[in-house]
Amino acid sequence: MRIGILGSGLMGGKLGTLFARAGHEVVFSYARSRKKLEKLARDAGGIARAGTPAEAARDADALLLAVHWSRVDDVVKQAGDLSNKVIVSCSLPMNDDDTELVVGHRSSGAEKLARKLRKARIVSAFNTVPSEVLFGVFEARGKTKPSLVFCGDDAGAKEVAARLIRDVGFDPVDAGPLQTARYTEPFALLVARLAYEGEDGPELAYRFEHLSAT
Ligand SMILES: NC(=O)c1ccc[n+]([C@@H]2O[C@H](COP(=O)([O-])OP(=O)(O)OC[C@H]3O[C@@H](n4cnc5c(N)ncnc54)[C@H](OP(=O)(O)O)[C@@H]3O)[C@@H](O)[C@H]2O)c1
Repeated sequence: MRIGILGSGLMGGKLGTLFARAGHEVVFSYARSRKKLEKLARDAGGIARAGTPAEAARDADALLLAVHWSRVDDVVKQAGDLSNKVIVSCSLPMNDDDTELVVGHRSSGAEKLARKLRKARIVSAFNTVPSEVLFGVFEARGKTKPSLVFCGDDAGAKEVAARLIRDVGFDPVDAGPLQTARYTEPFALLVARLAYEGEDGPELAYRFEHLSAT
């Protein structure tokens, strides 16, 4: 697939690299330095290049939205027409100092995004794990896979997201409609707390087990 990365920081830089290593064609966009995007593309070890958000969006089969909540409007404006685009968003609706969610209970960041981009096909995914664990999960793939919850309202877009989740090395867990992001977004903060304030470091993933099935 052709995958455009909108926001090439901790999450976008790493996930874009892993998508390229899994055989996808990747365009890294939206960082404060073009040189950084070029280095990410060079180091990705697959078919990857640097571009503008509009170039990342053009001909993309999927876009990864990986910017701070405060940058969403800017990056989607730069990306241009996103009608019918599959947008896999790992962005969490955090306040400016990243201490709390600014949307919750009766809505979610993912639902707000879907209302903003009514013609796009939004899936919320990859936001319940810290960036620090991504390379480790990719390198260990084939063994017992950690879970990764995702949700969305568009079946085709969810298939694309599930494939990308598998390609990175996780076991995709379909959590239902986009409205489930009301639960997955606070859950992401729980995982972040365990990762960043626990004693064992941030390389943390999780796995759900159905005991009746084992
Ligand atoms: N980090 C995690 O472990 C994690 C886990 C789950 C969910 N999330 C969510 O995922 C999203 C991305 O997080 P992140 O940690 O990857 O953030 P990040 O490292 O700050 O990356 C954001 C990207 O946006 C770019 N950017 C910011 N302002 C810009 C501007 N004015 N012009 C152009 N580019 C600009 C940054 O550029 P530079 O590269 O130049 O800084 C960076 O490439 C957030 O919504 C976060 O809540 C993060």
